[in-house]
Amino acid sequence: MISTLAWTPEGVRFIDQTRLPLEESYVLATTYEQVADVIVTMVVRGAPAIGVSAAYGVALGALRTKAATAAEFAPEFERICARLAGTRPTAVNLFWAIDRMKRLFVALLAAGATLAQIQGKLLAEAHAMYAEDIAACKKMGAFGGALLPDEGGVLTHCNAGALATCGYGTALGVIRSAVEQGKHIHVYADETRPFLQGARLTAWELMADHIPTTVICDNMAASLMRAGKIQAVVVGADRIAANGDVANKIGTYNVAILAKEHGIPFYVAAPWSTIDLATPTGDSIPIEERPAIEVTHHGGKQLTPNGVCIRNPAFDVTPVRYITAIITERGVLRAPFGDSLRAMERVG
Ligand code: MRU
Repeated sequence: MISTLAWTPEGVRFIDQTRLPLEESYVLATTYEQVADVIVTMVVRGAPAIGVSAAYGVALGALRTKAATAAEFAPEFERICARLAGTRPTAVNLFWAIDRMKRLFVALLAAGATLAQIQGKLLAEAHAMYAEDIAACKKMGAFGGALLPDEGGVLTHCNAGALATCGYGTALGVIRSAVEQGKHIHVYADETRPFLQGARLTAWELMADHIPTTVICDNMAASLMRAGKIQAVVVGADRIAANGDVANKIGTYNVAILAKEHGIPFYVAAPWSTIDLATPTGDSIPIEERPAIEVTHHGGKQLTPNGVCIRNPAFDVTPVRYITAIITERGVLRAPFGDSLRAMERVG
């Protein structure tokens, strides 16, 4: 299995997703500041992977502290969490993971734990999140794989695979599971301008698994749907609001509209840590605006005229009416999504 991120005695090791597929290289973050940089620069990306990376960043910050006692470390802990929380605003998994570390820290402080005990428990919590993420992907895969056709084309956008998680993937986990169930799936991977997660990352990891894959430019999906090549769409999510609106990689909304127009089911696969019941609708989800250079340049080469205005929103919101089902590790949710999300939150 692809090692997206891994804890080592020296720090957190990340596969460098900015260099794939041409180069398989790794970046070692030995401080929490370096973990934050790795998230900002998208060496590691994808909502679940960002969350677990931040958890390891918090643990790393605790382990590297020069504080002598737990009480002395407390203000530094707040600074570590704030730095990591300031990296990327849309993926709620980031805040979910940091909040979980904060809750643990507060409980340990209240119980009178020593700094050494706190360091050990924070690292154990990050390890637990890592393992839970892979287990959630496997469960989503089993639920979602059953929804895909026995044979046909499945379109995906961005990379919601092993590289976006601790392993197996959300949307690509669903596809992997369908293939493991013996289904004959051909994946159409949107290239996903401007960062090209589909062309570079989805294609790379599916080829490694020998899953038949065709990369298409983002503007080709409509005509392929019209030609009957796509039987289902499955994508990941960065944040799912309480009413079921889904924030995901920019361009997902276009695909959802196209799928509805062509009568093709549109599935979203995401772990429960992506669901944000505190955000009522997609309108309140913060959308990250990334640097213009991602649009103006590619591979160091300038594509646009000097000085032209650029927009680079990294995510969009797909309104819930376009979504056929949301696949989580707890089960498959269908409309009315607000009710089914609340009901499944209660069941746990
Ligand atoms: O900007 P990115 O590459 O972090 O965006 C990733 C996505 O939009 C993914 O689809 C989403 O995080 C789900 S990953 C399982």
